[in-house]
Amino acid sequence: TKAVTIPSLNALRAAGEKITMLTCYDASFAALMDRCGVEVLLIGDSLGMVCNGHSSTLPVTVDEIAYHTAAVARGSKSAMVLADMPFGSYATPESAFNNAVKLMQAGAHMVKIEGGAWLADTVRFLTDRAVPVCAHLGLTPQSVHQLGGYKVQGKTTESADLLKADALKLQAAGAAMVVLEAIPTQLGKEVTDLLAMPTIGIGAGPDCAGQVLVMHDLLGVFPGRKARFVKNFMDGQTSIDAAVSAYVQAVKDGSFPAIEHCF
Ligand code: KIV
Ligand code: NA
Repeated sequence: TKAVTIPSLNALRAAGEKITMLTCYDASFAALMDRCGVEVLLIGDSLGMVCNGHSSTLPVTVDEIAYHTAAVARGSKSAMVLADMPFGSYATPESAFNNAVKLMQAGAHMVKIEGGAWLADTVRFLTDRAVPVCAHLGLTPQSVHQLGGYKVQGKTTESADLLKADALKLQAAGAAMVVLEAIPTQLGKEVTDLLAMPTIGIGAGPDCAGQVLVMHDLLGVFPGRKARFVKNFMDGQTSIDAAVSAYVQAVKDGSFPAIEHCF
């Protein structure tokens, strides 16, 4: 199979085929997800919670993301490898670039940063220096202490308009993709229609160009409270391969997310 690239993701979007993304933290799962046809493997800073037992993503370091990124890159063949930049690692364009270099050298093909218009200069700085960037808007978990918890975002007209303006600014600055987390379905659709770059939703409705889930949630092994947007794809399956394939199938045929997973 051919390598997943920014042009190939844009081609999927143009063809109306949904993009599949899952978080992945090691080589064995990377190989499994890759052979199940998952297009993008995200080394999410969620690893601080699901792998290391922290109660938020804030303690995660660049070296930890780099370690897991290298493992995922070794295990995957054609999937795009997307690495999260952790809390505090992109406060200035220069520090963002220096930290992104570590993740790219570990095997990432793109990095993801959380936040709106304040990151436009950083996105430009990175993309000018050959670091592709995925934005992340809506519920941004690194801001949990400012948001006052893991809450749905963009529910007011004001905040919805702000999110749309942020998305356009980040796209104009060179972002290649955007993750939309925990926003109303209608806003997920509006942002998707507004943008040329693909939107990847998690709790952002079925109209996004693609979907992402944390792998532990998909496999039903995360002991924490189950978020509304989570579906346990192990239900009715007898292997992890089958569960991951069922996720890919459900995203591709539009049956996931269903109404009960949306806001
Ligand atoms: O860290 C993560 O797992 C993420 C996804 C939920 C998008 O950023
Ligand atoms: Na993340």
